[in-house]
Amino acid sequence: MTIIVTGGAGFIGSNFIFHMLRQYPDYRIVCLDKLTYAGNLSTLKGVMDAPNFRFVRLDICDREGVNALFEEEHPDIVVNFAAESHVDRSIEDPSVFLQTNIIGTSVLMDACRKYGIRRYHQVSTDEVYGDLPLDRPDLFFTETTPLHTSSPYSSSKAGADLLVLAYHRTFGLPVSISRCSNNYGPYHFPEKLIPLMIINALADKPLPVYGTGENVRDWLYVEDHCRAIDLIIHKGREGEVYNVGGHNEMRNIDIVKLICKTLGKPESLITYVADRKGHDMRYAIDPTKIHTELGWLPETKFCDGIQKTIEWYLTHRDWWQEIVSGEYRNYYARMYGDRT
Ligand code: NAD
Ligand code: TYD
Repeated sequence: MTIIVTGGAGFIGSNFIFHMLRQYPDYRIVCLDKLTYAGNLSTLKGVMDAPNFRFVRLDICDREGVNALFEEEHPDIVVNFAAESHVDRSIEDPSVFLQTNIIGTSVLMDACRKYGIRRYHQVSTDEVYGDLPLDRPDLFFTETTPLHTSSPYSSSKAGADLLVLAYHRTFGLPVSISRCSNNYGPYHFPEKLIPLMIINALADKPLPVYGTGENVRDWLYVEDHCRAIDLIIHKGREGEVYNVGGHNEMRNIDIVKLICKTLGKPESLITYVADRKGHDMRYAIDPTKIHTELGWLPETKFCDGIQKTIEWYLTHRDWWQEIVSGEYRNYYARMYGDRT
C-alpha cells in the first residue's frame, strides 16, 4: 500500500505520517509538500531516513510535477492536508488560499482520475459550516448543516469540498471528506492560538486575545484526528463526509488563562486586541456519524492534552525557536504591529 500525504511537513500532516508509520510499518508513505512558511522539514527529521518514507518538495498546483509523481509511485490512497490554513492570513491576502486550497485540490484529483486510485481523502474543516451563536449551546454542526462560510480561508475549503463531491458524482472518483474541529498538540505552528500563547507566555510577552475572548472553539488532540482519518480511509464509505470533534468546547480566554496558570505566569500578560474581521463565535461538532459508523471516539481529554502540549513546547524549544526567529517575525510585526 502506497499513500501520498500532501502537506505532511505541516502540523496535522506530520502527526498523521508518524501515526501511519507506527501503525502500518509495511506501508509506503510519500510526503508531498511545497514547504511554505508553514512547512518545516525539521519536523520530519526522525522519519526522513526510514526505508518506507519519501519526501518530495512539490506544489500541489504543479500539474506536471504531480502527474510525474503519480506515474512513479502509483499511490493507492491520497490524503490531502496541503492547504493555506490560517484565517488571519486569508484576511490579509485571499489569493493564495484560492490557488492552493481549490486549484491544488483539483490538480490532485485529476491525477487520481488519470492514474487510478482506491481513495482520495480531503482533510477539511468545521469552519465550512460557519459559526453558531453563543446563546444556543444545544446547536451542533452535523454533516447536513448547510455550508455557510465566513472567511476567505473557510470559503476556499468549502469550495474544495464541493469540488471533491462533484468529482465523486461526475467522474465516480472514490472520495471521502473529514471536517474536523480545531486541533492542538505537538508541531503546531506558532502563529495559531495555543502555541502562540505558550511561546509568548514563556517569554513574558503580551498575550493578544482578539475581541472579548469569548469565542468558543471545539478542541481535539491531533492524534485523535489522525486516528479518525486512518479509520475513514480504510473503512469509511465512498462519497461520504464525516465530522470529527470531541465535544471539547472552550472559550479562548479560558484557554489563555489555563496556559498562564500552568506556566506560572500572571494573567496581567493578557492583552485584549482588536477583533478579527468576521470572527466566528462558536464551532461545535456533532460526531455521531463517525462514532456510530466507524466506532471512533476521542481518547485524549482536553485537560490531559493541553498539559501534554505545554510540556512538548517546553521540551522542544529548538523546534519553535528556529521558526520564531525567521520569516515568522516579519509576519508577526505586520499582524500585531498597530493592533493594540
Ligand atoms: P499547516 O499550515 O500546519 O500545514 C500545511 C502544510 O501544507 C505545510 O506543510 C505547507 O508547506 C503545505 N502546503 C501549503 N501549500 C502547499 C502547496 N501549494 N503544495 C504543497 N504543500 C503545500 O496546516 P494544518 O494545521 O496541519 O492543517 C492541515 C489541513 O487540515 C488543512 O487542510 C486544514 O484546512 C485542515 N484542518 C486544520 C485544522 C487545525 O486546527 N489546524 C482543523 C481542521 C482542519
Ligand atoms: P486560530 O488558532 O487562528 O484558529 P481558527 O481561527 O481556525 O479557529 O484561532 C483560534 C481562536 O483564537 C480564534 O477564535 C481566534 C483566537 N485568537 C486570538 O484571540 N488571538 C490570537 O493571537 C490568535 C492567533 C487567535
